[in-house]
Amino acid sequence: MRIHANMKLSDLVTMNFEIIAVIQRLQIPYGFKDKTIATVCKENNIEVDSFLHLAQWFNDRDYFPQEQLIQQSPTWLITYLRNTHKCYLNYQIPRIEKEIEQLENYSDLPDRSAQLMIQFFREYIQEFAAHIEEEEVKTFPYTIDLTATLEGKMPIETFRKKYKGYSIDWYMENHSDLDEKVYDLQSLLLKHIPPLSSNCQFSNLLLELYRLGKDLRDHTLLEDNVLIPIVQQKEKELYIKFQAL
Ligand SMILES: [Fe+2]
Ligand SMILES: [Fe+2]
Repeated sequence: MRIHANMKLSDLVTMNFEIIAVIQRLQIPYGFKDKTIATVCKENNIEVDSFLHLAQWFNDRDYFPQEQLIQQSPTWLITYLRNTHKCYLNYQIPRIEKEIEQLENYSDLPDRSAQLMIQFFREYIQEFAAHIEEEEVKTFPYTIDLTATLEGKMPIETFRKKYKGYSIDWYMENHSDLDEKVYDLQSLLLKHIPPLSSNCQFSNLLLELYRLGKDLRDHTLLEDNVLIPIVQQKEKELYIKFQAL
């Protein structure tokens, strides 16, 4: 089904609740009443095309609008990625950590298995936080300042001084997949933890890990296939304009 700007936002969400993630990440306030997508985007200063492409992708996973998203300004993408990071760090990861810690309370687990799972996840959190910090502190500000320099809002000398020796190629070469270890943990739990007395909680933990892994795959897809090409294009433009990076 084709999603269009004159559709009511509440109808779109009712049709596919996964779009709630897009709404949260683009900071659209709830309480849409009967407003259309076009109206809500206008009120919140969001490019309607970016919203429509993302919503279409969430609704039809075979459709990844890479070319269309690359054409949009990087501002929305950075907002989207930053708000996704916030949700991971402040909500999803601590929730999963708490659930894993609960494993210690079950007496029917093999020796030390709960501690090993907790240790595995805590190491993962450290890796996760370092990955996100690198993007928040370096890659995203670089993208914003590169755009500002091209638009004449930042002097080229300031930009050069601030990012000496940095380019998006460095990020591209070092950008790791955050979802792999989530799948590893999911698989360890599934294969080696026998049924627990509170099966409901354990099943929920598996489902939360599944959702996180799936979402991280989407997140990495946007960073690798939209953010990197946008920045590569802007670096070329900067080179042409100033004959240097
Ligand atoms: Fe990220
Ligand atoms: Fe990343």
